[in-house]
Amino acid sequence: MYLKSLLLKQFRNYIDQEVTFTAPKTVIVGNNAQGKSNLLEAVLLLATMRSHRVSKDRDLVRNGEALGEIKAICQRSPEGYPIELLMRMRASGRRSLSINGVNQARHLDFLGNLNAVMFSSLDLDLVRGSPESRRSWLDTVLIQLEPIYINLLQQYNQVLRQRNALLKSIKQGKTQYEPQQMALWDTQLVTAGTRLMRRRSRLLNRLTPIARTWHQQISGGDEYLEITYVPKFEFAPLDSIEEIHQAFFAALLQKTIIEQHQGTTLVGPHRDEVALTINDTPAREYGSQGQQRTLVLALKLAELELLESVIGEPPLLLLDDVLAELDLQRQDHLLNAIGDRVQTIITTTHLGSFEAQWLNSGQIFQVANGKIIQS
Ligand SMILES: Nc1ncnc2c1ncn2[C@@H]1O[C@H](COP(=O)(O)OP(=O)(O)OP(=O)(O)O)[C@@H](O)[C@H]1O
Ligand SMILES: [Mg+2]
Repeated sequence: MYLKSLLLKQFRNYIDQEVTFTAPKTVIVGNNAQGKSNLLEAVLLLATMRSHRVSKDRDLVRNGEALGEIKAICQRSPEGYPIELLMRMRASGRRSLSINGVNQARHLDFLGNLNAVMFSSLDLDLVRGSPESRRSWLDTVLIQLEPIYINLLQQYNQVLRQRNALLKSIKQGKTQYEPQQMALWDTQLVTAGTRLMRRRSRLLNRLTPIARTWHQQISGGDEYLEITYVPKFEFAPLDSIEEIHQAFFAALLQKTIIEQHQGTTLVGPHRDEVALTINDTPAREYGSQGQQRTLVLALKLAELELLESVIGEPPLLLLDDVLAELDLQRQDHLLNAIGDRVQTIITTTHLGSFEAQWLNSGQIFQVANGKIIQS
């Protein structure tokens, strides 16, 4: 996966900025709040359609403007032909997408042209944050691995919103509870929800052994990493769809009264958890900040390796201000894992804050106030 150039128009604090990438590693240097993370966010948006920081396009479009644009020229393989990806965002919320100038009505068709793995300080939330951040991580990986997942996710969220609206209305006494009406929503929730859960659980089964190997290598010890999908009701990866549906219905039935009382849906993939444990201790309670960072690094390397093996090309690696936080040994692991094979974009406030090796075969840009110059 190669990113040849990026054009940002009225995106975040950029007005009209083109960047041409000519080396396996690009280092973007700048003070705080100059636009480093914004640039990586733009690349991640093309790869996943999602921002890791905000959910509303209004925040992505430059303040006071109606329309923002991210355009990229990329190439899937060294022999591949260049593809132009264009994402237009509106403060009003509607997006449009095109590939080589041809409008794409479906998100699904846009995905898969550029793949990327982001590693930022926000990723420490994978260990320390709420279940939401771990679910969101799984979703982001799945969107790239199996683009159809973005549709499944949208379908589920739509059913969930409507079912929640009904429950809220029942709670407020505006609507009477009718079992038959609720059963229709239950069926849709169970059908759409099971699809997400099976894919998430399958993903973890593939990621875990890779992450465990990286984790053991980097920590250099006897630490045993376990990653488990913890749904609100039990099912085994090999259960048939019917069996999962049954368990899902049964779990909903158990919550009928409390759901009406709380006015919201309490069972389903939007409530599931991913448990990270090291030597049988929950990772958030295990060890120092450095050890937690090691875990996140192992998860990110696993994500990279899995994407590469499925897609057949290494994804881009976006390192947002994290190198300086890794000690030299961990930086070496990362360097060895990516070599010059993985195109990497690195942001930092100080060039001197990480190993000089990163600058070999690299190009360096300075960013100040939404303007980028090559130095
Ligand atoms: N929609 C927007 N319109 C205009 N400016 C924006 C918009 N969204 C963010 N900004 C500006 O972008 C800047 C932040 O950029 P960014 O997050 O890329 O900083 P950074 O260089 O990564 O800094 P740090 O080193 O602190 O992480 C802030 O000045 C913020 O006000
Ligand atoms: Mg930043």
